[in-house]
Amino acid sequence: MVKLLDGKKLSQKMNVQMKQDVAALATQGIIPGLAVILVGDDAASHIYVRNKKRRAEKLGIRSVIEELPVTTTETELLQLIDQYNRDPEIDGILVQLPLPAQIDPWHVLLAIDPHKDVDGFSPVNMGKLWSGRPDVIACTPLGIMKLLAANGIDVAGMDALVIGRSTIVGRPMAGLLVNADATVTIAHTKTNDVKAIARRSDLIVAACGVAHFITADDVKPGAVVVDVGMDRLPDGKLTGDVDFEHVKDVASAITPVPGGVGPMTITMLMNQTIQLAKGRAQ
Ligand code: GUN
Repeated sequence: MVKLLDGKKLSQKMNVQMKQDVAALATQGIIPGLAVILVGDDAASHIYVRNKKRRAEKLGIRSVIEELPVTTTETELLQLIDQYNRDPEIDGILVQLPLPAQIDPWHVLLAIDPHKDVDGFSPVNMGKLWSGRPDVIACTPLGIMKLLAANGIDVAGMDALVIGRSTIVGRPMAGLLVNADATVTIAHTKTNDVKAIARRSDLIVAACGVAHFITADDVKPGAVVVDVGMDRLPDGKLTGDVDFEHVKDVASAITPVPGGVGPMTITMLMNQTIQLAKGRAQ
């Protein structure tokens, strides 16, 4: 029987602990503060930001949502980041990606104070991760590691395949897996035969953004399959990078879409905001 890696259930469990943490901080007069900056009108980004705001409210975290027009200049955005860098009541700053073309995301990641970089995308935090000394960690890969651990899956010694090399998922995911003693391959658009690599992998993390890219034929019997995809089928239905219905008969464990990785990302964002606020308490 395949094990369903249920991110919704684990998130609900973690919400209980996080509410306790927020209550404990409140006794010291501290309310965790999260600034979320969204530039432009990317539809998916607006949904993500709305969900973040809702979850923050539920947990007692103060969120400030800045929605800036698509015409915002890089200078204007950097000024706003600087304002939040200096705001003592803001513990975490998140600039939603992607950004409009006139803004270089690298300049943005360099501008965020690494101690407030709740996404873990800044070069300082990415460097710490790859140095084996992680501090703030990208929320989606961290959520995946928590989900695996909560289900008793130890990746040590596994041959792991990460499909995708983005700053948001692929790169930090690979770093976390290496730190946890997996042997990692990072595949990307120029990889020769990703399917052949998939077939010999013990763990597949699919983050390529192609609906049902991984089929049952690509999965070794008993492998663990994690689906980061949020894709649309031609009929408009939400699905992932993995053909869940068929892969579930081959894999030993699998994440559903929705309800797998997605809820864990927001949970980790909230948890890291709380952890950063705890730094203020000392
Ligand atoms: N865009 C898609 N996922 C994310 C995320 O986790 N953080 C940010 N900042 N942008 C994203």
